[in-house]
Amino acid sequence: MRVVSCNSFGPVSDLTVEHRPSVPVGPGQVRIRVTAAGVNFVDGLFVQGLYQIKPPVPFVPGGEVAGVVAEVGDGVTTHSVGDRVFCSTGLGGFASEVVWPARRVTHTPAGMTDGQAATFVQSYGTAGVALHHRARAHAGEWLLVLGAGGGVGLAAVDVGHAMGLHVIAAASSQEKRSIASAHGAEAEIDTSTEDVKSRAKELSGGGVHLVYDPVGGALAEAGLRSLRDDGQLLVVGFAAGEIPKLPANQILLRNRRVTGVDWGGWVGGHQEENQQLLSDVVAAIDRGDLHPVEPKAYALADVAVALQDQLDRKVVGKSVLVP
Ligand SMILES: NC(=O)c1ccc[n+]([C@@H]2O[C@H](COP(=O)([O-])OP(=O)(O)OC[C@H]3O[C@@H](n4cnc5c(N)ncnc54)[C@H](OP(=O)(O)O)[C@@H]3O)[C@@H](O)[C@H]2O)c1
Repeated sequence: MRVVSCNSFGPVSDLTVEHRPSVPVGPGQVRIRVTAAGVNFVDGLFVQGLYQIKPPVPFVPGGEVAGVVAEVGDGVTTHSVGDRVFCSTGLGGFASEVVWPARRVTHTPAGMTDGQAATFVQSYGTAGVALHHRARAHAGEWLLVLGAGGGVGLAAVDVGHAMGLHVIAAASSQEKRSIASAHGAEAEIDTSTEDVKSRAKELSGGGVHLVYDPVGGALAEAGLRSLRDDGQLLVVGFAAGEIPKLPANQILLRNRRVTGVDWGGWVGGHQEENQQLLSDVVAAIDRGDLHPVEPKAYALADVAVALQDQLDRKVVGKSVLVP
């Protein structure tokens, strides 16, 4: 099998693609021939040693995959060779094969491509937990999504629109804003030229109810200041690299709230709710209510290019590695 190996923390260009012997399939496990490995912002952080969790090196990055079952272990009755499947791996997904417990491997619905199946779990899981469980958003509220053309941002646009929210998409390029509009945003803010606070207030008639922020940096404070009375800033991530320090007076004024969103942490204590959330997402995709984007494909050997493009804000929507 071929794997992407991180042999020491450093720039993504240090990653190597290596041949390794296949891992034997144990009881209750399946071997998946990977056809698409989802690329997430966090993968680049893992490789650089910038994520809060630092795995022992060497390790194989890659948190989610889709593919075809190539072998089933003893006792597996739920899966057969040839089934199309997807799963979350945390690490180990940037590989031509993954061996994983069958109970944590889901069949890919007929209407979903392998690229979508490899990229929707983390992005829609995060957006779903943020809007349903943390914000408890209601139809008719105004939602400002920062980084709206990126992975978790675009999913939030889609989920927010499906919940009946009025979504404003903020992003740095027309291509990113356009894909957000195609996913249901009814207004756009150009973060490279427009004042986010005043534009969001103008569009929403006085201030938004919710800001979903996977970007951080200076945009976080602009988002906080664009909230109306009792509005909530959802802290999702810091793609800009800077963890913002928010002025507490801006939280006190207008009785605003700042709410943390940690999907991975939430899953730990809410396994059943997470299963329900993901099956609800799959059902909504099946019905045509949610629309995970078809990702841009890179060859496995181009892993460094794929991760660097993500760090350089070049990815619109999602991307995958194809072994
Ligand atoms: N809390 C959670 O549970 C959770 C779960 C998944 C991911 N995350 C976090 O959410 C963040 C976004 O993840 P993602 O997968 O959506 O990433 P992504 O697809 O790369 O999107 C991030 C967006 O951030 C914006 N950005 C602004 N400054 C940037 C910079 N210096 N470098 C890169 N992007 C920049 C870009 O939009 P513009 O070009 O429009 O500015 C980009 O499209 C990451 O910090 C990730 O770790 C959190």
